[in-house]
Amino acid sequence: MNAYFNEGWLAMLILAPLVGMAIVANAQAPGKPPAAAEGAPAFTLPALPYAQDALEPHISARTLSVHHGKHHQAYVDNLNKLVAGTPMADLPLEEIIRRTAGKPDQTGLFNNAAQVWNHTFFWNSMQPNGGGAPTGKLAERINASFGGFDAFKTAFSEAAMTQFGSGWAWLVQEGDTLKIVKTSNADTPLAHGQTALLTCDVWEHAYYLDYQNRRKDFVQAFLDHLANWDFAASQLK
Ligand SMILES: [Fe+2]
Repeated sequence: MNAYFNEGWLAMLILAPLVGMAIVANAQAPGKPPAAAEGAPAFTLPALPYAQDALEPHISARTLSVHHGKHHQAYVDNLNKLVAGTPMADLPLEEIIRRTAGKPDQTGLFNNAAQVWNHTFFWNSMQPNGGGAPTGKLAERINASFGGFDAFKTAFSEAAMTQFGSGWAWLVQEGDTLKIVKTSNADTPLAHGQTALLTCDVWEHAYYLDYQNRRKDFVQAFLDHLANWDFAASQLK
């Protein structure tokens, strides 16, 4: 099951024909077009789930234009070149990531596939007027795992700040426990049997135009104004 489309999405897909919703295209893996025509690229860049300027003033339209339109697009293009003419071209993105993780001779494929997935997950981890605090089952699990939401925010910020060089900070589910993990470069919880719930991209390209070297301010803005807790809750298993 695609990580983006858990029970809630499944229910929508089942109900969609009944209410005439044209959401069949959404049933594809992220970035995977429906039944690619011969010669068509295997993967496409998913659209942002909001307008390019929707996260201002916390993330500028200029940053999103470069980050989504150039960096994310480049990972998609590189992935398409690497899978072209191979059996990998027919696999879901998640399967490519799992099959290439930890294999030194597949590093390029893993890096680009994982970065396509990580970035799509990052866009979904944010929303305009986000931030605040989670509610319901996710809030209960955060309290149980970290001793409260403030303690979670402190630990998440610390992980994002101490990720040396390029990488990601994540809230993940592992069994019944929630954890904060940080990954380097393209590495992703998918490669470690963990379920991602929320992520913050701490590669410099994510914040340098808006915050220069002030990564801490970017992470604070992410937590206070952008984090999409409804999306995170929808990923819980
Ligand atoms: Fe990025």
